[in-house]
Amino acid sequence: MAWPIEPPWIYDSEVKGAAGYTLSALDVDGRLAVPLHRQLYERVRKAILDRQLRGGMRLPSTRILADELGISRNTVLTAFDQLIAEGYLEGKVGSGTFVARAIPDELLSLRNRASARVSPSRQPRLSRRAAPLSSLTATAGRQRAFEPGIPAVDLFPARVWARLLAKQWSRSGPALYDSLAYGDPAGLMRLRESVARYVGAARGVTCEAAQVIITSGLQHGLEIAARVLLDPGDSVWFEDPGYPAARATLFAAGGRIHLVPIDDQGIDVAYGARRHPSPRLIYVTPSHQFPLGVTMSAARRLELLEVARRADAWLLEDDYDSEYRHSTHPIPSIQGLDTNERVIYLGTFSKVLFPALRLGYVIVPPALVDPFVRARILAGRTSPTIDQAVVTDFIEEGFFDRHIRRMRSAYRERQEALLDAGRKFLDGMVTIRPSQAGMHVLGWLENINDKVASRAAADMNIEAAPLSAFCVEAQLKDALLLGYGSVTPRQIRAGAETLARALSGIA
Ligand SMILES: Cc1ncc(COP(=O)(O)O)c(C=O)c1O
Repeated sequence: MAWPIEPPWIYDSEVKGAAGYTLSALDVDGRLAVPLHRQLYERVRKAILDRQLRGGMRLPSTRILADELGISRNTVLTAFDQLIAEGYLEGKVGSGTFVARAIPDELLSLRNRASARVSPSRQPRLSRRAAPLSSLTATAGRQRAFEPGIPAVDLFPARVWARLLAKQWSRSGPALYDSLAYGDPAGLMRLRESVARYVGAARGVTCEAAQVIITSGLQHGLEIAARVLLDPGDSVWFEDPGYPAARATLFAAGGRIHLVPIDDQGIDVAYGARRHPSPRLIYVTPSHQFPLGVTMSAARRLELLEVARRADAWLLEDDYDSEYRHSTHPIPSIQGLDTNERVIYLGTFSKVLFPALRLGYVIVPPALVDPFVRARILAGRTSPTIDQAVVTDFIEEGFFDRHIRRMRSAYRERQEALLDAGRKFLDGMVTIRPSQAGMHVLGWLENINDKVASRAAADMNIEAAPLSAFCVEAQLKDALLLGYGSVTPRQIRAGAETLARALSGIA
């Protein structure tokens, strides 16, 4: 309903000419999902901001307005109360409601000018650190062939998890209340103790619980490490090919990224030492190089530690999926070999439990504990206490070890299924090489560009990341990264058949 405003309902004692203005924009509509009082509030506020209603104007009484708009007086009162609380209107006892004079006209005209200038195509001005990250993306991971980095979420013991979660919530009194308040920024002590015991036994990491800081995943640990250890312009050795999000994190923190190639023993330490002798940070994935899958040799590990000692550099050891070795025992960490307290060890529950949990840990030399905890306070303060407690119970009650054992055999079976399906369906187009560890393999392409192959696969709803997407300077043969962790042997076979059809279309 249009609302004709005639004197004396709204008039401006000073700004003549407003009287008689038809505020059809104030009309409200009972069919909309938005409550009527909210609609009226928004209409009046907009009329004020657009200067259709000016400071000092008197509005009609709530009763008259309600009659005119065909709504209840309470609805008008609710809208007016909110506008008065926010300072758009002023109520004067006995004389009615007025548009506030306190919003100066200049501010309103500035607002109008500013909004006129903003066009959807205008690029916002970003910091020097954020601007070069424009190509960084992260899509939601899906359980489909051959999405890398996603564990067997179909085999996760959800019932056990639900029971442990319910146990946490069924507590009462301080035991529960403490879990609902802010937690310790370093993490739940019980979990830090469990992690210290676990990495000591399974990964050869030497540490006390006090050195373990719980993070929201490995990526978060890197972010904190960069904040604490890196100054703008500092040299960072980074694997090429390597994990793009880690590179972006260190770059965004101001690091000068110095790419170091990978050979069959891992990062080429001699190359790095020759070209860039004074690194401040060295980032490596020694257990299972991402994405090539190389395990760093013992000699390289010792060389790296020596470089770090000489250059007074920190070694960031990303141990994202080390639990899953298919033929030998897990390779002990570099951290366990370090006698000079140079290693920052980064772990995650993303692969061994599930990525959406967003829990990981960073294990630092004693002298770095306080600076890391301070940085962790700034970077989100703490991780959810109840989830940390559930992970702790999951570990302490034996489910974690059982789950890892089960997953090892599932991944062996899934990798085997992929190798079989590759031989059967992809022969002559893709050669899939087995991998000793992890949840992905590389499929080497015969005379097909990997980006073209990846796009053709995506058109048929198959994820097959091109190896070249992980390379900066490295010139490697064309290959596809094929994750098999989250898909069943059956889905793997179907996926390989579809991939074969996609590739035969372009070969
Ligand atoms: C090499 C590597 N490092 C780190 C991460 C990130 O782990 P998180 O999920 O704990 O942040 C990933 C994830 O796939 C990875 O592949």
